[in-house]
Amino acid sequence: MANILIIDDDDAFRDVLVETVQDLGHTTLAARSGEDALERLREPPPPDCIFLDFRLPGADGLAVLESLRGLTSLQSVPVVMLTAHATSENTIGAMRLGAFEHLTKPVGREDIAALLERILVTQADAPVAHAFADEAPSREPHLLGVSEAMRDVQKRLGRAAGTNSTVLITGETGTGKEVTARVLHRASARAAGPFVAVNCAAIPDELLESELFGHGKGAFTGAHTGRRGRFEEAHGGTLFLDEVGDMPLAMQAKLLRVLQERQVAPLGTNRVVKVDVRIVAATHRDLRQMVSAGTFRQDLLYRLNVIPLHMPPLRERVADILPLAEHFLSTIASSRDAVRKHLSTDAQRLLVTLAWPGNVRELANAMERASALAPGPLLSRDDFAFLFDTTVAAADAIPPSLAELPLNEAVARLERALIARALALTDGNRAEAARRLGISRQSLYTRMANLGLSDPA
Ligand SMILES: Nc1ncnc2c1ncn2[C@@H]1O[C@H](COP(=O)(O)OP(=O)(O)OP(=O)(O)O)[C@@H](O)[C@H]1O
Ligand SMILES: [Mg+2]
Repeated sequence: MANILIIDDDDAFRDVLVETVQDLGHTTLAARSGEDALERLREPPPPDCIFLDFRLPGADGLAVLESLRGLTSLQSVPVVMLTAHATSENTIGAMRLGAFEHLTKPVGREDIAALLERILVTQADAPVAHAFADEAPSREPHLLGVSEAMRDVQKRLGRAAGTNSTVLITGETGTGKEVTARVLHRASARAAGPFVAVNCAAIPDELLESELFGHGKGAFTGAHTGRRGRFEEAHGGTLFLDEVGDMPLAMQAKLLRVLQERQVAPLGTNRVVKVDVRIVAATHRDLRQMVSAGTFRQDLLYRLNVIPLHMPPLRERVADILPLAEHFLSTIASSRDAVRKHLSTDAQRLLVTLAWPGNVRELANAMERASALAPGPLLSRDDFAFLFDTTVAAADAIPPSLAELPLNEAVARLERALIARALALTDGNRAEAARRLGISRQSLYTRMANLGLSDPA
């Protein structure tokens, strides 16, 4: 049973909602305005969840949400925004402020029931994690996410886990492709079997075949002993082919054959070994584009892409940023046996506006760095200055010097700065930089040449 605060000025709507929530076995508090609600919230304990109308007399829902986020005791209370007219602005606005969900009126009983169940499950996790905070942090993979996009991923993953079908996970660097593969394995009927990961990009081309399929003694120079391949090791479990887009074409053909025949022939042997493995592949590359370019086999793409799982970049699921950040802060604290640090409101506001080119990994690293370096238990915006410098400043601040220049020159300088930034953020990967800038690769080359930004070589 939970205690739920309902803030709405529409008496009829509020009464129906109160009745529905009570009927579902919860207790309620009601308020007609934001001011009224804030007054009530002075008295602890805080409610377990808040339903907040968007259009209210006085301060509107977003302003109320912002005030709630400013109060330490209420920061972590899930807030569900309700609106008669959802726009992308109020949706994004609410999510940026960390609303748990954004619903359009009318809201049916089923929706409320499902929503409360989700919220209460999420909440129930927190104290459990806390109770174990003194123990070694669990090595269990976790795929956190409250955003609509991540919930879709979680739902698809759950469905895929119930099958043996091949799964292809795509997404930018650091979006959680590997953690997704691990969670999928753990959720599948093969959980008791092995999970074997092979990073196709990290193994030299000439060794990849024996790595995957194994080899007999003396199969090649240096093969003093025979070795089982990764396929055999993964028998009864899951084989994770990471960075599959980096596999050379000749190897792609061999992999395709194995996937069709479900058996491997270790190099330099006459053996054929039947293998029962679930294949999960991942790549940050655009395999369709590689197929057009002739660098990835179309038939292999079809074989792998039975169940596609796309991991959205963090900037497209703003609602996940703060929950993930808090999760990393508590994991960091428990692994170091250190004081748990928290985010100040202005730090929260900064984090949700950044672009996070390195996605969840970058967010995790930022939490690690800030909690190691910040003096006190509360992390302020300044403790994240290192992020601000690299990812926001270049785009947001128009240097005053530009305002003085002739337009053409100002535009050229800005263009040069934006291109240089995109290249820096992608480690010089031009295809990726072009995509980030929303222009074609050819156009990027032309612009770079015109701006004198061509190869240093
Ligand atoms: N949804 C999530 N919940 C919790 N942790 C996550 C989530 N997504 C990513 N992480 C963490 O972020 C880090 C990066 O994730 P992961 O290695 O799975 O990314 P990736 O997509 O495989 O990246 P790359 O393309 O660079 O290999 C890991 O430490 C992972 O545990
Ligand atoms: Mg990875």
